[in-house]
Amino acid sequence: MANFLYKEEQDIYNDFSKDGYVIKKINNFNSLEYIRNKIVKIIKKKINLKKNIDHQYILNNVHKFVEVKDLNSFRLSIINDINSDTLFRSHYYKISRPYLDHIVGNELVMQIKINLSIQFPNDDSSLLATHADTWSGDSPYEAVVWLPLVDCYKTKAMYLLPPKETKKIQENFSKKKLDNSEKLYRHIKKKVKWIDIDYGEVLIFDQAMPHGNRINLEKETRWSFNCRFKSLFSPYGDKKIGEFFQPITMKPITKKAISFKFPK
Ligand SMILES: [Fe+2]
Repeated sequence: MANFLYKEEQDIYNDFSKDGYVIKKINNFNSLEYIRNKIVKIIKKKINLKKNIDHQYILNNVHKFVEVKDLNSFRLSIINDINSDTLFRSHYYKISRPYLDHIVGNELVMQIKINLSIQFPNDDSSLLATHADTWSGDSPYEAVVWLPLVDCYKTKAMYLLPPKETKKIQENFSKKKLDNSEKLYRHIKKKVKWIDIDYGEVLIFDQAMPHGNRINLEKETRWSFNCRFKSLFSPYGDKKIGEFFQPITMKPITKKAISFKFPK
């Protein structure tokens, strides 16, 4: 294989290959602000808050305004609101575009519905047990763009198992009987990497590595989005184009080629 990558691409290539993820500063501040302003506006409307309040405060402390029993419906209605706004998805892409270009490609499909996680402190009702998306039918060609709206650290964040460790457990999967996710977590607990990421940064990770979260033991709520991207012509898993993914950056030669007909 030849390697014609530029230095900047090679650096990201190396980091992503070694760690299975990269965390990057967001240069497109306008897009980030669009996303955060939109969410804060939706929250204020839902909880009927009229006064001006610091954005970081309301996001970090939303558990003081919404009860745990209402959390899932609150979350789902926000997901509905953001996904009916086409601009929201385009800003989400713009934030990660420079890095996706290097990690995934520049002719991409994007998940049609962006997902949102809200993790209240000490809430065990919305946990994500250890899993790799590829174990349940996702294509290994998909990368996840994970965008926090608040600073995430310790148990307020998520964890990933580094590629080297992933390889080790995959080789011993049936031998060690790691067939239940809690057993698996206990097995990898000391090897996982807890992500430390601030608002203003974006995480792109390989969902073929085991990942998840635990009960958020910090005092603040975590807000994070996740959305998958893949190269338009890479192999698809259970998540199909048209149903789950939508082309977002199709090139003109591709568009022409799709309707190409050999002369009769
Ligand atoms: Fe996942």
